[in-house]
Amino acid sequence: MRKLILLFGLSMLLANCEVSEEKGLIVDKAMVVSARQEASKIGSEILKKGGNAYDAMIATHYALAVVYPVAGNIGGGGFMVYRANDGKTGALDFREKAPITAHRDMYLDSLGKVVKNKSILGANAVGIPGSVAGTFEVHEKFGTLPFKELIQPSIDLARNGFKVTEKQAKSINSATEKINKVNNYTTLFEKKWKKGDLLKQEELAKTLERIRDFGKDGFYRGETADLFVNYVTNLGGIVSKQDLEKYEAIWRKPISFDYKDHKITSMTLPASGGICLAQILKSIEPFDLSNIDHNSTKYIQLLTEAERRSYADRANFLGDVDFVKVPIDSLTDTNYINQRMASFSWDKATPSSEVSHGKVLGYESNETTHYSIVDQFGNAVSVTTTLNTGYGSKVLVKGAGFFLNNEMDDFSSKPGVPNVYGLIGSEANSIASEKRMLSSMTPTIVEKDGKLKMVLGTPGGSTIITSVLQNIINVVDYNMGMQESVNQPRFHHQWLPDIIKMEPNGFKKETKRKLNTLGYEILEKNSLIIGKVDAILVLPDGKLEGGADKRGDDTAVGF
Ligand code: DON
Repeated sequence: MRKLILLFGLSMLLANCEVSEEKGLIVDKAMVVSARQEASKIGSEILKKGGNAYDAMIATHYALAVVYPVAGNIGGGGFMVYRANDGKTGALDFREKAPITAHRDMYLDSLGKVVKNKSILGANAVGIPGSVAGTFEVHEKFGTLPFKELIQPSIDLARNGFKVTEKQAKSINSATEKINKVNNYTTLFEKKWKKGDLLKQEELAKTLERIRDFGKDGFYRGETADLFVNYVTNLGGIVSKQDLEKYEAIWRKPISFDYKDHKITSMTLPASGGICLAQILKSIEPFDLSNIDHNSTKYIQLLTEAERRSYADRANFLGDVDFVKVPIDSLTDTNYINQRMASFSWDKATPSSEVSHGKVLGYESNETTHYSIVDQFGNAVSVTTTLNTGYGSKVLVKGAGFFLNNEMDDFSSKPGVPNVYGLIGSEANSIASEKRMLSSMTPTIVEKDGKLKMVLGTPGGSTIITSVLQNIINVVDYNMGMQESVNQPRFHHQWLPDIIKMEPNGFKKETKRKLNTLGYEILEKNSLIIGKVDAILVLPDGKLEGGADKRGDDTAVGF
């Protein structure tokens, strides 16, 4: 019943563009917010047992790989940003890599044209997964409970099954045709799913047991690696045993910067999130938002113009720093940013063609997932992980029961040709052997006065950065609570295409009309604003408030 009321509340909110002041779950000590109740619960139980946020990260990650196969994964990758209770911050890159034999033009035909869907669907789209290596890195550095205890609840869940939700049934059903097309056997996903059906994944349970028993080698070597490489090879892909054996997650220095009186820590390259977030927030900082209404014409104008300039830089400069030189300091320098914003005018939109050049195309349905964790010791963990689009390449490893990513599409297949999110890339993000593809993922942590304030992140492809941005501004500038902030209608601009994407019915007619007059083109479509923000706010009394995005089945659990 409570769920019904909440859903009703959200649809009323989106229909009437009223600000909901709804509170999220409030707890005293510790919390996990993720895309599924089962996963948040498993993570929270680990915390209750005395585990820390890093232990809970591992447990939550594997649980999502079972209960949220659209994006939760062992066949994908992601990024973690953390803030330990002593204030130290850090970041882990467990992003996928291009296979050793990958090369710049691998998605082009003999005439140099991009072959449709080759980087999106099937075995050719697969990057070398990083998730399992990521969890072992986290465990080695910070874990306190035995790994076996952290993964066992997910093994049980895979074996005994869980009930699919209504949204999930719809999501799986919409993917079965492609899953069927890509695989050479009938996978367990290929039936008509409905709410309440039990999904049991015995092959996945066995794969997770091999990870439990043999550690990282349970995935990157031995039986799992054999099944993985043989199947992908059978389907015409290029992943080799050597690719799997060589994969390493990498600890990186996160991007840290000040916004007003807050310190923001977010992911660095190969994720563009931290750099873009820094650019956009610094572009906005000189403007007095206390005189600008939330989601008003002026507000949307200001954010849009800052976003436009940042996404143009993203397309031109950003790529894997282990392969290309990226002028991170210059790009986030305040003088540089002020210069970029010098052409901004309240009187009319700056056309993207005047900011830089490019061409534009279409979209498909996407999924990634984010989870936020704060433990009873004060450690915070922010993780975004993905297979890229929903169910990734749709390849479900025969005999091992897990989906493989299609992260290769995040590379620029050809300079100037947009990827599935309409993002354009340059040489900096071209394909090379063992290179990491550029990401928009933005796991973020905010602190104030040296204390933890907020942990947040979201899926949403190119809209990830702008959804995280809007939630930071909602809380920092407009003083919203966490759930209230997550509930707000969102909009997005990414330089190209030169349009503002808006959640339908979330914005006033008059606001949209004024924006049109100023030269902004608006596209209202639900599927385009796909973020599901899962966040935690530390309240002034030290309690934690969860913000679980009701656009999905996302749930906060804690104590
Ligand atoms: O790394 C990236 O930017 C994309 N692969 C993320 C994909 C995504 O968020 C899909 N989501 N809903």
